[in-house]
Amino acid sequence: MCGIVGYVGSRPSLGVLMGGLRRLEYRGYDSAGVAVIDAEGRLSTHKRAGKLGVLTQDLAAHPIADGVTGIGHTRWATHGGPTDANAHPHLGDDGKLAVIHNGIIENFAELKDELLAEGVTFSSETDTEVAALLLGREYRATGDLTAAFRKVVGRLTGAFTLLAIHEDQPGIVVGARRNSPLVIGLGEGENFLGSDVAAFVEHTRRAVAIGQDQIVTIRPDGIEVVDFAGQPVESEPFDIAWDASAADKGGWSSFMAKEISEEPAAVANTLLTRLGDEGVTLPELEGIADDIAGADRIIILACGTAAYAGMLGKYAIEKWAGIPVEVELSHEFRYRDPVIGPKTLIVSISQSGETMDTLMAVKYARESGATTLSICNTQGATIPRESDAALYTHAGPEVAVASTKAFVAQVTALYLLALRLAELRGTLPAAAMRANLAELSAVPDKIATVLGTGAGIRELARGMSDTRSVLFLGRHVGYPIALEGALKLKELAYIHAEGFAAGELKHGPIALIEPGQRVFVVVPSPRDASSLHPKVVSNIQEIRARGAHVIAIAEQGDVAVLPVADDVIRIPLASPLFEPLLAVVPLQIFAMELAAAKGLDVDQPRNLAKSVTVE
Ligand code: F6R
Repeated sequence: MCGIVGYVGSRPSLGVLMGGLRRLEYRGYDSAGVAVIDAEGRLSTHKRAGKLGVLTQDLAAHPIADGVTGIGHTRWATHGGPTDANAHPHLGDDGKLAVIHNGIIENFAELKDELLAEGVTFSSETDTEVAALLLGREYRATGDLTAAFRKVVGRLTGAFTLLAIHEDQPGIVVGARRNSPLVIGLGEGENFLGSDVAAFVEHTRRAVAIGQDQIVTIRPDGIEVVDFAGQPVESEPFDIAWDASAADKGGWSSFMAKEISEEPAAVANTLLTRLGDEGVTLPELEGIADDIAGADRIIILACGTAAYAGMLGKYAIEKWAGIPVEVELSHEFRYRDPVIGPKTLIVSISQSGETMDTLMAVKYARESGATTLSICNTQGATIPRESDAALYTHAGPEVAVASTKAFVAQVTALYLLALRLAELRGTLPAAAMRANLAELSAVPDKIATVLGTGAGIRELARGMSDTRSVLFLGRHVGYPIALEGALKLKELAYIHAEGFAAGELKHGPIALIEPGQRVFVVVPSPRDASSLHPKVVSNIQEIRARGAHVIAIAEQGDVAVLPVADDVIRIPLASPLFEPLLAVVPLQIFAMELAAAKGLDVDQPRNLAKSVTVE
């Protein structure tokens, strides 16, 4: 949450900062602001409530003096509403110092009291301003921005990435991080800072991830990283695997539309080099091979859409590898007393790799002795760095707030993990292993087929733009898809939506069914001997008898749904565990189209941010 960018070099910084903010806007869009040190060595700032476009227009109408050093921020409000005054940057040292912040300073109230007692005045309700004023005070005492940072970070609790510039030190940007992300972009005669590599990938594809509790100073000709005690830190640069065009809309109406269209590639790239005819190759797991082979229990930790991917991982791991799996929301896991044994394997799932709830849960599990494996889509992110091993999905950058291609890539990675576990334990006969490998490799083409039905789903969505409530039902692997379908609709179209296990309906929720109630039902394949198909058809009949309008997602050739469903969306044939990778796609498209039909911004739904870096 909140996007941060910093620049020092030789070109006009405003263009670099605004370009970086445009790519980071998915992290928060309540307000935006910039600060630059101009050619005269003066600090100028400009900030506005609203999306980045408001700031862009304002800067065009009221230009500020540009320079070659600057910082920029796009905000997801925590302390204080989305107003001009609460927008970042915040100033210290009588307006000579500008600070931007991502995270929450938990002890800000007591620090604020301390400053108020000294007669300091505040012009915002934010926790960030406390850090700006403290930095200003320490700068006056030390005359050095990096030294001032070291004094201040020791007084802050909570999560923060802070960047600052000062008029007196015009050629540097200083940043510090604890529990929030910060990455350096290495240029020629210029350097960058960003919440993630998207901030600067159009200028350089060489980056360095800043570790926990470290302070970085960037200058045009170099970088310096120290820990909070001032000791130098060695940092290892990495190459960014995608280029700037990957994070552009590329002619699509929205990032979400583009990212859904990229789902076949997200799955194919996640499988690349890992899927053979006889087995899977996951060298990333070698360092923890003994721990995973000996695990007697797996706990999957994730939030939101990633947790629904985790539920599918549970079905696959239990079926193929026979290891008991629990799936838990990271924030619920962390604050109870979970039983973690030496043979517990923790698998975290996070597209961003920065979700604070998941990060805290992973740290807690690791400190409790568990082996931790991270499934993540973002290079250099904190959660994989804090884990014993990382299995990257290769979905490419996901910019739209609602997760789509990352979900199918996460499920793919979980299935690869499940198959590898089965190999290590010898739990799957060779023929079953081969059949699963073949099914996995066929998923990209089958998703591409589902994408071809987009026009029909758009029609369906347009006809439902006045709908106030939609229910989603599924059994077994259809259940997480029902939950995901409901989540997508809530977050994008602001329509009340609930996902239920179809068998649970008669235990209460069926009371919600009234004539005309729209219900999506994920129908399992009728071809599988152990299929729940007849039971789901019975569930449809129960709700139809009470007036529900049923939209079935069913495989090609399933004629049993025709008499009971009002609408049918077809997906290609797949065996049960692979069906959710196909069934989720129409639900993503439906939510996007319904939101678009209501005139809503599908990439930036209200109140949300893509990377949830506060607890
Ligand atoms: C929903 C959505 C969220 C995320 C969740 C976890 O569309 O995007 O529910 O899935 O916030 O985010 P990551 O995967 O970055 O940890």
